[in-house]
Amino acid sequence: MIKKCLFPAAGYGTRFLPVTKAMPKEMLPLVNKPLIQYGVEEALAAGMAGIAIVTGRGKRAIEDHFDISFELEAQIAGTSKEDALKEVRHVMKECTFSYTRQVQMKGLGHAILTGETLIGNEPFGVVLADDYCVTEADGVLAQMVALYEKYQCSIVAIEEVPREETYKYGVIDGDEVEPGVFRISQMVEKPEPEDAPSNLAIIGRYILTPDIFDILRTTPPGRNGELQITDALMTQAEQGKVLGFRFKGKRFDCGSVEGFVEATNYNYQNIYSRR
Ligand code: G1P
Repeated sequence: MIKKCLFPAAGYGTRFLPVTKAMPKEMLPLVNKPLIQYGVEEALAAGMAGIAIVTGRGKRAIEDHFDISFELEAQIAGTSKEDALKEVRHVMKECTFSYTRQVQMKGLGHAILTGETLIGNEPFGVVLADDYCVTEADGVLAQMVALYEKYQCSIVAIEEVPREETYKYGVIDGDEVEPGVFRISQMVEKPEPEDAPSNLAIIGRYILTPDIFDILRTTPPGRNGELQITDALMTQAEQGKVLGFRFKGKRFDCGSVEGFVEATNYNYQNIYSRR
């Protein structure tokens, strides 16, 4: 069983300035629900009720969101407006939340290493909340947990992207061991299209075995001078211990304005207006 899920949430969200000046990018809403809540719901649905969030300066709204808002809740108690809080109250009841701060932004690998204190020595999920995923049945993390039960090694979610976009992602190569499942032999962080080993890109869902923390401690800075999770995973991949999993579902890149607007429209049409 994987019980915990780590949410690196310390990034600045500069692409959305000025709105992210005083508000965490993870609190940007797809209509009326913040991105991070979708991620927490996906983790809980996969059995990961221990929510571990790596925050930073200016991120207190995340903690407040998963807490009681006493005055507001007293005000709307007994009215139909309470319905709007049903889902967040559900995750608050079922999950435990723990937080630690990343003091300096030194890359995704560094953010994950900062979360070690909340995770300890057990396999765990990772969600990058700006990759928003919709699925027909099981969520992406739940699909990955099913695969973990079979292979017991680190797993990254992947999808095919247009060749010219490889520079935005970690890109993998490997042998397909069963339909949609690749034993990874190569991974490169944000390669130019001509250097990319394939067009299979890593998206923001991972299951990591805890030896990743020791590996991260000795991994040198990579792309952009930052500690990259992709580089640390490559050390595991050299021992055949990383799978790429082409998940069933659709991903929206809510880290970009275009993807965010697309996801907003999708949720408005498919969720909000059907309530
Ligand atoms: C991170 C990872 C990258 C991955 C991407 C998925 O990059 O470093 O390997 O493909 O998330 O969203 P970022 O988007 O944080 O620059």
